[in-house]
Amino acid sequence: MTMTIDRCYCFDKTFAHLKEVAAATGAASVAALQDDVEFGQRCQLCHPYVRRMLRTGEVVFHEIVTDADEPERVQGSSFCVQGSRFEKAER
Ligand code: FES
Repeated sequence: MTMTIDRCYCFDKTFAHLKEVAAATGAASVAALQDDVEFGQRCQLCHPYVRRMLRTGEVVFHEIVTDADEPERVQGSSFCVQGSRFEKAER
C-alpha cells in the first residue's frame, strides 16, 4: 500500500493549493502562508510537509516528513541566498 500525504488534513487544505497561494503572495514560511490560508493550527503535523513544499515544490508525499527532516529555518535567511553565498565563497 502506498501512503499519500497531500494536504493539511485538519483543515483539508492541499499542499498544491498552498503552493498556489505561496506563488501568488510570495509567502515563504508556514507563518506567512497562515496569514492568507487557514491551515496547520491543530496537530501541526503538516508543517514539515509545507516547509518541504516551499523548499522543493513537491506537493504529494509518500513518506513521513517530520520536523527533524525539515527543520524550521531562521526567518529571512532564505536557502537560495545562503546557497549563492556559499558558491561565491568557494570560488
Ligand atoms: S494536518 Fe495540518 S494541522 Fe493537522
